[in-house]
Amino acid sequence: MKYPPLVALLLLSGLISASGAQAQDLARGKAVYNSRCVVCHGDQGDGKGLIGIVHRAQTNGLVTTTYPRDFTAGVFKFRSTPSGQLPTDDDLMRIVTEGISRSGMPSHTDVAETDRRSVIEYIKTFSDRWEQDGPGEPLPIGDAPALVGSEESTERGRVVYDTMRCAICHGEMGRGDGTASAGLQDSWGDAIVPFDFTSGPVKGGSTPEMIYRTFMTGLDGTPMPSYQDAMPEEADRWDLVSFCLRLMQG
Ligand code: HEC
Ligand code: HEC
Repeated sequence: MKYPPLVALLLLSGLISASGAQAQDLARGKAVYNSRCVVCHGDQGDGKGLIGIVHRAQTNGLVTTTYPRDFTAGVFKFRSTPSGQLPTDDDLMRIVTEGISRSGMPSHTDVAETDRRSVIEYIKTFSDRWEQDGPGEPLPIGDAPALVGSEESTERGRVVYDTMRCAICHGEMGRGDGTASAGLQDSWGDAIVPFDFTSGPVKGGSTPEMIYRTFMTGLDGTPMPSYQDAMPEEADRWDLVSFCLRLMQG
């Protein structure tokens, strides 16, 4: 790299350093982490902070616990990127800003935007994956077509739900009680249940576009798979969104 003479002189004299800004950003990120995240995510980023368990819920008689994410694994649920890939900074910003409903992960709208960006850079230091792979490319998701939610689309979506066998986990009526729903575990060996559509808001966002995204990307680290390849037709995907929205109405 070629520096202008004054900058080169300052660099040589050690008065400034090429990665100074980045190091400062990380130091800031660490400070934000220690004041706002460490109690749950832990000082090693392994999810074993002082508050180990922040959310318990009962679904179909089974009590499940949601633990704070272990950042050392480099595995994230709510992404715009394909299955198995790292989330984008925008994905992480959304999570940190808005939080995750029904999980105990709080929103941080009171933290300055630059501080939220710094803390995101800091949590990346807990896993080598960020240096090896880098974030994935977001899947292109257009605006939901007007037919989403219509009676015809919902009925076609019922067939897609059947063909894709969503019911083996989520159940015929979407109550999370399908034949394969018992004994499921996440990547950390903790018990997990398929989402009960009749129980309230989804975690990843309940707009048609966000529901589309959930079954396209899958939720990494959980048994919820990606259907990107299994469902190549755009029309089927939006019909399935219609049916999911119907299930959520109970
Ligand atoms: C009160 C506890 C708590 C605090 C404080 C907290 N989190 Fe979380 N966080 C959680 C829980 C619980 C989850 C797991 C949610 C799930 O799996 O559904 C989580 C998940 C996450 C995820 C993973 C999202 C994904 O797509 O997998 C990120 C990123 C995250 N937190 C960042 C942060 C940052 C940054 C801070 C501080 C600014 C923070 N959290 C503060 C409890 C907390
Ligand atoms: C092998 C079991 C399994 C199958 C098959 C399955 N899911 Fe899931 N799904 C899950 C689990 C487990 C969760 C809960 C993940 C969590 O709470 O972190 C989930 C969560 C969801 C959510 C809620 C996500 C959120 O933001 O809270 C939606 C929507 C969903 N699944 C749709 C579908 C659709 C549509 C199909 C079929 C195309 C399907 N799932 C097939 C296991 C499955």
